[in-house]
Amino acid sequence: MEIIPLACESLGTRSFSHLVITEDVKILIDPSVSLAPRRFRLNPHPLEIAASWISRETILKAVSLSEIIIQTHYHADHFTLPERRIYEFTNKNVFEKIYSKEKTIYAKDPENNINYNQKRRAKYLWKTKKRKLFEAEGISFQIGNTRIKFSEAVPHNIDERLGFVFETVIDDGKTKYLYTSDVSGPVSEKATEFILNEEPDILVLDGPTYYHPRVSKKEKEIAFKNLNIIVESIEEIYIEHHFLRKKNWKEKLEKEVETKLPAFSQIINLEPIILEAMRKELFKEIEVQEEFYSLLEQGLVNTDFYLKILKENNIDTYWQKIRKKIEKYCC
Ligand SMILES: [Fe+2]
Ligand SMILES: [Fe+2]
Repeated sequence: MEIIPLACESLGTRSFSHLVITEDVKILIDPSVSLAPRRFRLNPHPLEIAASWISRETILKAVSLSEIIIQTHYHADHFTLPERRIYEFTNKNVFEKIYSKEKTIYAKDPENNINYNQKRRAKYLWKTKKRKLFEAEGISFQIGNTRIKFSEAVPHNIDERLGFVFETVIDDGKTKYLYTSDVSGPVSEKATEFILNEEPDILVLDGPTYYHPRVSKKEKEIAFKNLNIIVESIEEIYIEHHFLRKKNWKEKLEKEVETKLPAFSQIINLEPIILEAMRKELFKEIEVQEEFYSLLEQGLVNTDFYLKILKENNIDTYWQKIRKKIEKYCC
């Protein structure tokens, strides 16, 4: 089994997109990339936008080789929307390319255990009968020696009004992999129990949402308590997503959790690059041309600009490495 992160916080964007490749099947999970439109009262820095652009390109490359798409919920950092979003390099064509009728898609139930906003977005995917689309929660199936299993709906946060996701297990007979999607810690008993019962060899989880001002002290305490229980019983764990939205994430982890946990990028030996959490510093250190945002809005920033800024900051090599890994399996 090979697990290849494509876009995530440790690769400089808001996302949890990755490929899981076994001898039997190539699976693309949560194929989207996004940026926080405002953080520290600032727009995304051009370096973040460049990371988003190259991540989007990389996801599209991964789409062409994948046979199955797993869509754990309908937040924009996981789900590509069919509308023009300038920081996310998406539009109707990009949406159709990703969720095309050639792919088999296992997606979050669009009617049950879902909040209003996600229900509205889910319709983009479910309104046409042309797609090979299945509700994922609670099902499992086998392709060759690879077993794929989805949990029942588990809460995104302690407040269930924020919606639900499902967790994914992929077992090729040699390695059992579990991806939690957004379970905020996990903060719920249900999400925690699923992980403990499955006993995966490799676990990729989103840590507690401790960066968010509206998350209560109690919720954070529960999330860290559950995380500590999990850490005791699973050997290989990568922490990602919500947890990496603050620049002191490593210190916080050291303080709250017994064991050191690497970020998801480290599964392919890439040191995490945290851009959103460093947005203030980025604006201080890398000058931004006044007209940049109006050029972006007009679609006039060319790809050379993105490649140049990635190269100047020594992170272009990250995606070169990822692409090389993808190209082993594709066209
Ligand atoms: Fe989410
Ligand atoms: Fe998310």
